[in-house]
Amino acid sequence: MRLVTSPTDIKEVTERYHLRHLTVGLVPTMGWFHEGHLSLMRMARKNADKVIVSLFVNPIQFGPNEDLDSYPYDLERDSRLAEGEGVDILFAPEKNAMYPKNFGSTVSVTGLTSQLCGSSRPGHFDGVTTVVAKLFNLTRPHSAIFGEKDYQQLAVIKKMVRDLDFPIKILGHPIVREKSGLAMSSRNSYLEKGEMDAALSLFRSIQKAREFVSKRSAEDVDAAQIKSLVHNVINFHRECEIDYIKVVNDTTLEDCHKITKNSLLVLAVKINNRIRLIDNSILKGS
Ligand code: PAF
Repeated sequence: MRLVTSPTDIKEVTERYHLRHLTVGLVPTMGWFHEGHLSLMRMARKNADKVIVSLFVNPIQFGPNEDLDSYPYDLERDSRLAEGEGVDILFAPEKNAMYPKNFGSTVSVTGLTSQLCGSSRPGHFDGVTTVVAKLFNLTRPHSAIFGEKDYQQLAVIKKMVRDLDFPIKILGHPIVREKSGLAMSSRNSYLEKGEMDAALSLFRSIQKAREFVSKRSAEDVDAAQIKSLVHNVINFHRECEIDYIKVVNDTTLEDCHKITKNSLLVLAVKINNRIRLIDNSILKGS
């Protein structure tokens, strides 16, 4: 595996891949790899001749009071893990290389970004789409893989790719969970022992909601019933502060009132006002 840190070098590498007619799969990440990231790398491997993983803690997608400064980072550890997955290139640029002094452009997707995480984290998705568009231009992938835990992010990136005609296939990878059910996330590393039960309430509430729907004819279930059930499970833990609990259409991300096979339960919860966790699940079927 080769470590590349300069945008000029990565452009050269990808140019050579293109000249050799090799397909490129990109896995954009902010590092501190866990099994979720490693599964994305394996999926990329299956879909492309060459796999590039980017590792960049993108400052412009963090709000002023968010965890940019404490975001876990260990390039050596992550290099070892990526190499173990047969990744060809780990692209880990410096902040100034991605955003030089006079950088002043933003890629902004409208429509899907005003609700859910978009309303709790103003500017977040502009930061994501700007960096992802840059990564797409630098690495020119044929496919790019994103985790479904960040469901809204995946939907926003698909829209950006459609709207701006990036010739890239966007693939979503199902949520990877710990044995306990906790959705894997680099932010789980902030959780202290005593906070685990509260963190698990997201998954438990999803299980309860799915069970509730499975025992009824879905058309008979109101989103309001699901939201109240989920609310009760999570709110039981005093460490939890609910940011949102919503049932939305899995394509438009607009609120659903009745449950259908396209109804997606989406949650964002803050644990002890420090750790923001998200999770989601389709309510009916797999
Ligand atoms: O999901 C992430 O880790 C980030 O939002 C991404 C897509 C790498 C952009 O910085």
